[in-house]
Amino acid sequence: MNVNIKTGIAEKESAELLVFYLYEDVKTVEGALVFFDKALNNAITELIKKKEFVAKLNKTITLPTYGKIPAKRIMLAGLGKKKDVTLDKVRQAAGTTASITRAMGVREVTSVIDSIEIPNPSSIEWYQAYVEGCLLALYKFQRYKNVPSEEQKEIKSLTLLLSKKESFKPANEAAKQGQIIADAVYFTRDLINTPAQDKTPAILADTAKKLAKEPGIQCKVLSKPELKKLGMGGILGVSQGSSQPPKFIILEYNARAKNQDTIVFVGKGLTFDSGGICLKQAKDMDQMKSDMSGGAAVLGAIKAISKMKLPQHIIGLIPCTENMPSGSAIKPGDIIKFRSGKTAEVANTDAEGRLILADALDYAEKYKPSAVIDLATLTGSCVVALGTAASGMLGNNEELKKRVKIAGEKTWERVWELPLWEEYQEQIKSDIADIKNIGGPHAGAITAACFLSKFTEKYPWVHLDIAGTSWCEKNNAYLQKGATGVGVRLLVQLVQNWSRFP
Ligand code: BES
Ligand code: ZN
Ligand code: ZN
Repeated sequence: MNVNIKTGIAEKESAELLVFYLYEDVKTVEGALVFFDKALNNAITELIKKKEFVAKLNKTITLPTYGKIPAKRIMLAGLGKKKDVTLDKVRQAAGTTASITRAMGVREVTSVIDSIEIPNPSSIEWYQAYVEGCLLALYKFQRYKNVPSEEQKEIKSLTLLLSKKESFKPANEAAKQGQIIADAVYFTRDLINTPAQDKTPAILADTAKKLAKEPGIQCKVLSKPELKKLGMGGILGVSQGSSQPPKFIILEYNARAKNQDTIVFVGKGLTFDSGGICLKQAKDMDQMKSDMSGGAAVLGAIKAISKMKLPQHIIGLIPCTENMPSGSAIKPGDIIKFRSGKTAEVANTDAEGRLILADALDYAEKYKPSAVIDLATLTGSCVVALGTAASGMLGNNEELKKRVKIAGEKTWERVWELPLWEEYQEQIKSDIADIKNIGGPHAGAITAACFLSKFTEKYPWVHLDIAGTSWCEKNNAYLQKGATGVGVRLLVQLVQNWSRFP
């Protein structure tokens, strides 16, 4: 789909569909809509007066224009109360109108963006939220579907119509940024939605190598012999039950950056988590193809960061493996030795994420990073605690947590902090090894982070548990059922906001 920016007058637009945004508490027809209301014999005033259309967020109504004006149809879309408008409400309203427009079979749509009354028209963020909302809502995963071309409904072009020339520059910049972001989120969602059979660790590693064709990105993949040499018992132990060999993806962006902070992203790359010998129940096990969502978010974020040419030095570390039961699988009670030399008792083979992350987090140290952020679909416990509206955040550095929280609010990939207090560390003590990989029935998201904290002592670190946010059960304004791509927008925003780390 093409996103175009144009300055002009709505009355003269001969679009298939013109979209206007309205606020619930504004009861009179204003601005550019006055002309359309008059031309349509006060139809809009009547709709509002009789409450046949109330401009609540994500509500829309479409009116035919019967040749009375150049545009074929107009759509009125709600934004909720004017005083409550936020970037995400704009993102949502944009997403809703884009999905409905596509379902109507409209191929060219023009949005009268001034009707939003963007609070700060010279900054790009509002326009960007709009473009992002439209594009993210239009995502479809069709790799495995035969859809006859006549049934394919696609919007060919989206035009943002502006009345003020000053808005052109920020809106044009926003369209570019929004497209880069959406492209990266699509890439991440595609990887997560792909079945495990088609994204084995080796296939993911090849995908990362292809990504390294983008400017400034390099990729190195460590295979089993190298992992053995490095003593990475965590990733080797988890992978030993699978016929698919493990891979450790190392991406580097802007390797030659001077006087820039190094930020390491670590992503859990479990391409399928059956639970191993501690096998999961069959119900919803298919969703465990998404257990590489953290790794996929790291790949997507680095893709966008390179397209945006951001100045920081970024490392992406993605340990990739399956967790499978078999005669060679790791068993409850087995002991693993990590690259760091620490040992862990595997009390439950389904708590495998922390085992592969331990080696990756330890490996991160060699880059002398200013900050390390890991993303992992780590615990069901986090989903119990926070549901799907926030990722769990735990870490060892207040400034980094603050930065992640700010990026989360802006992108609406929100995070909520859980405590990483000393008291919880008790739970992962083992009788026969340095630590064990589960901490009992309580505070599972926290004890998982306690485990990781044993490998992150040398640098500022934040862990994001995205088990509840990486997947969604039903479509909403700009998320489709399935992978959300959470983390991509948050990480990109974090780096965009970055200033030298204290
Ligand atoms: N990949 C799962 C966590 C998960 C659960 C992700 C639901 C997405 C949705 C993880 O490897 C796991 O199985 N964790 C166990 C840990 C337990 C055995 C201590 C869990 O949370 O049940
Ligand atoms: Zn598991
Ligand atoms: Zn898992």
